[in-house]
Amino acid sequence: MFDPKTVVGEMTLAEKAALVTGADMWSTVGVDRLNVPSLTLTDGPHGVRRMAEGAAPHDFYECEPATAFPTAAATGSSWDPQLLEEIGAALGAESRALGVDVLLGPGVNIKRSPLCGRNFEYFSEDPVLSGHLGAAWVRGLQRYGVGASVKHFAANNQETHRMRVSAEVDERTLREIYLPAFAHIVREADPATVMAAYNAVNGVPAAQNPWLLTEILRDDWQFGGAVVSDWGAVVDPVASLRAGLDLVMPGTGGGAATTVLQAVASGTLEESVVDRAAERILAVAARLHNNRDTDVEVVDGDRHHRLARRAAAESAVLLTNDGFLPLDSGPGGPVAVIGEFARSPRYQGGGSSHVRPTRLESALTELTAIVDGRREIRFAAGFTLDDESSEPLLADAVATARGAEVVLMFLGLPEAAESEGFDRTTLDLPVDQLRLLGAVAAVNSNVAVVLSNGGVVLTAGVEQHARAVLEMWLPGQAGGGATAEILFGLAEPGGRLAETIPLVLTDTPAYCNFPGTAQRVLYGERHYVGYRWFDTTHRAVAHPFGHGLSYTTFDYGDLRVDVPDPERNEATVAFTVTNTGGRAGSDVAQVYVSDLAASVDRPQRELKAFGKVHLEPGQSRHIEIRLSERDFAFWDEQRAAWTVEPGTFRIVIGASSRDLRLAADIDLVVPAPALPLTIDSSVGEWMARPAGRELLLCLMAESNNDHASALQQHPEMLPMVASMPLSRVLALTGQTLSSAATAALLDAVNTDVGA
Ligand code: BGC
Repeated sequence: MFDPKTVVGEMTLAEKAALVTGADMWSTVGVDRLNVPSLTLTDGPHGVRRMAEGAAPHDFYECEPATAFPTAAATGSSWDPQLLEEIGAALGAESRALGVDVLLGPGVNIKRSPLCGRNFEYFSEDPVLSGHLGAAWVRGLQRYGVGASVKHFAANNQETHRMRVSAEVDERTLREIYLPAFAHIVREADPATVMAAYNAVNGVPAAQNPWLLTEILRDDWQFGGAVVSDWGAVVDPVASLRAGLDLVMPGTGGGAATTVLQAVASGTLEESVVDRAAERILAVAARLHNNRDTDVEVVDGDRHHRLARRAAAESAVLLTNDGFLPLDSGPGGPVAVIGEFARSPRYQGGGSSHVRPTRLESALTELTAIVDGRREIRFAAGFTLDDESSEPLLADAVATARGAEVVLMFLGLPEAAESEGFDRTTLDLPVDQLRLLGAVAAVNSNVAVVLSNGGVVLTAGVEQHARAVLEMWLPGQAGGGATAEILFGLAEPGGRLAETIPLVLTDTPAYCNFPGTAQRVLYGERHYVGYRWFDTTHRAVAHPFGHGLSYTTFDYGDLRVDVPDPERNEATVAFTVTNTGGRAGSDVAQVYVSDLAASVDRPQRELKAFGKVHLEPGQSRHIEIRLSERDFAFWDEQRAAWTVEPGTFRIVIGASSRDLRLAADIDLVVPAPALPLTIDSSVGEWMARPAGRELLLCLMAESNNDHASALQQHPEMLPMVASMPLSRVLALTGQTLSSAATAALLDAVNTDVGA
């Protein structure tokens, strides 16, 4: 192909300025004379939203047909990186067939509040789960020579005021919660691009934020691809390029290119900055085009549809079940199917990820096909898609349910309730749907509820009337078939919650701060996001993170946790999962770590690893996992580094963050490098260091000062002054140390830290 550096050397400044500012809504500028291809970028992430020939640039819905895979809210619940890799690969094949070079996804923002209107596009409230699933998706996609665009970098956790708001979030929280999924994907899957978010982070717009785009992404994580702006995120192209952004999107007729040219001409922007961005875009183009040996002219649509169906089943979370499910497909009594969503499925979210599916299954049709005449299927809509209920619709549903052997109710959020562009204000299901459920359950208590929603909904009002509740999320074009198969036991509900379902909105960690004002949103809950908050505060929840029932049961045993090398703060974890029930099924073993004696506040437990197993009845699987030093570390703001404090750590294997099956404690002993003591270190910090203690006691003895001798006589007073900086204690007690004496003291105490 071509060498990016050489080509940049041959391009004119005008060509480079045009390259880094996009050609139009969905492509970059090509330079024919230098064989530089134009790149086509397209949404993502659940299907390829390639605009149809001649479609208006802003018309989201006028696009080519493509497989609509389950949304990330669903696939996040699959806890299955291998599945995500398969989906990524299928998207890669479809992208290639539709002439797409960069598919805009995956979305790996953390679900900070369940109200975020775009939560259906994100995987989880947990960074480890989000990072592992996102990396698998990217690997699958990029195998086809199609680039990913990991979005939205960073701290884009709400839709309200998304283009103006500044996420006010401390560095530890960013490092521990909001950045790790991006870091993991960059390091493990080498995405072609990262998309800079609309919002500002601590006052600096993400798309012109040198700390995020250069220090973190390039210097720290060694990102080698190009940074693309979210569509319309760039206000000042010069500031963005300087900060490390490479491609301003979309192209808007040359305005941004002119700004860049003028800035270079006037000397306010170095041409080398433009060169750098141009070279990175060319490097992406070269890399994608060089990696295209797979022939994907013809996409196997049937295979992708089957994959979408399997993915929907692997992502479905069975929240409750008293043994009612699975149903027998016949022969048997009538099955009442109630709810418009059974006939007109809610299967994808609104906004930029909206695709035109290649086909669409309804649960009603699929249920009917499975029973194949052996049971009567009776349908009543109960409500309309606009979520309008009426007395005749309700009466018809009640009549349909009366006398049926079982009732399957399809409830969920109407399309207008959640989307890109706005946040929700409630977690409740529509009131009319709940009224319908109550009326139906009053005449027939054999009710199972199937939910379709992208963001979580409160479930208590549903569970009181239902013998089983199946959360399907927004399950993609084949969700209908997956639902029918699960209800009749032809498939297993393979999903586990990737986010906590709270009892009430007011219990959620960001409640008091979400969504802030147009100017700022304070991340006041810090790193206590999702289960980290609920578990640390021992708050009751409707369903904990990681929860999901199977049609079979699993036992956990044989836990062994070792620290193989005492010189390293690392551990190996091994245990066995056994299917103890009578059916084949899958389970997700979750590995949590608790730091039992940290000097800083840490969550009660944090997910560090997981493994999904598919087991036949009676079958066991031995799982081995290695925990690295980072898995025990917190971001220490004082050192500005990841730090492991020696001490006892508890390793817990759970079937959810609250269904803890096995536990073992280990001691890690390797200390973090000591920080040099200063005259402003506290008395406690001085006393904790043997050399510091000795010097301090000497200093006190020599000082001949009343306060010092009082302290010596009453050592129980020490804790009162432990947090006082030494300099203040000296000042308060009227002692002065010359700068030479101070330097000598610090030299003496810091010999062992090499400071
Ligand atoms: C969204 C991105 C999307 C882009 C292009 C933006 O409004 O935030 O996720 O990729 O539009 O459609």
